[in-house]
Amino acid sequence: MIINLKDIKPADAQNFLQHAIAPRPICFASTIDKEGNINLSPFSFFNLFSSNPPVVIFSPARRVRNNTTKHSLENVLQVPEVVINIVDYDMVQQTSLASCEFPKGINEFIKAGFTTQKATLVQPPMVKESKVKLECKVLEVKPLGTQGGAGNLIICEVLCMHIDESILDETGKIDQTKLHHVARLGGDWYAKIDETNLFKVAKPNTQLGIGVDALPKSIRQSKILTGNNLGQLANVHEMPFVDPAFNDDKLKNIIQYFSINPEDMDKELHRYAKELLDVGKVAEAWQVLLADY
Ligand SMILES: Cc1cc2nc3c(=O)[nH]c(=O)nc-3n(C[C@H](O)[C@H](O)[C@H](O)COP(=O)(O)O)c2cc1C
Repeated sequence: MIINLKDIKPADAQNFLQHAIAPRPICFASTIDKEGNINLSPFSFFNLFSSNPPVVIFSPARRVRNNTTKHSLENVLQVPEVVINIVDYDMVQQTSLASCEFPKGINEFIKAGFTTQKATLVQPPMVKESKVKLECKVLEVKPLGTQGGAGNLIICEVLCMHIDESILDETGKIDQTKLHHVARLGGDWYAKIDETNLFKVAKPNTQLGIGVDALPKSIRQSKILTGNNLGQLANVHEMPFVDPAFNDDKLKNIIQYFSINPEDMDKELHRYAKELLDVGKVAEAWQVLLADY
């Protein structure tokens, strides 16, 4: 299916885009107007765009339904400061409640049952319950259009971060497994990040991977190894050599059992290599595949 976004209703375009561009982190933005009224609203059109200078952007859009603007936008135009509270699983239902269209002047901290905590450098208060809070100065507000659905980029410089010590590791850095982020997807869908779905992808920063094109043809065209497996194998800096010290009983059995049938041996070696790759044992998988040559 190919969709030309100009040919469909804005609400349908929003639906396709929000399901496809997901999961999105959630900025729970605390803002204040010049009379001192506090607002707290979640925005998943949000991300980090620069670390030096530290810049994050979120986007309160004009409502698709009636083209009205959001209080958060109006507030930062009056007082260009915001606290961005990072949303974790423990806060998600109350965060969603804060997104109700309460009339102007209604404090969502109270409505959603969150506790205010004084910020150090900006006027809007922080959400005490959030485990990471960013005090920000608004650098620029950039409207992206005038129609319903048009975003307004609120470009923020992060002045200071408050990090709950319960999510730190022993070196004082954030332990990714301890901050149970939630993210927004399409419709009512959310994702919860925890140890059951976190995984690592090894990325060499200084050395180049050999690339899939440099893999031997039998590996590249394997019916057993997947695209992920090829990506892992091709991430080595140079073609590995057979390591005579690699002493593996399963490999020995495969070679012994299938020596009369090279085609089956090939398949069996690929199956075993896949097993190893799927648990992150790239060097071992290479040794298994090299036994083929
Ligand atoms: C998790 C979540 C993410 C949201 N993300 C956005 C967003 O990125 N942009 C937007 O305009 N509205 C977004 N909304 C809807 C706003 O939170 C909602 O319109 C809110 O009432 C705006 O409040 P305000 O008028 O007090 O600023 C989101 C709602 C939820 C629950």
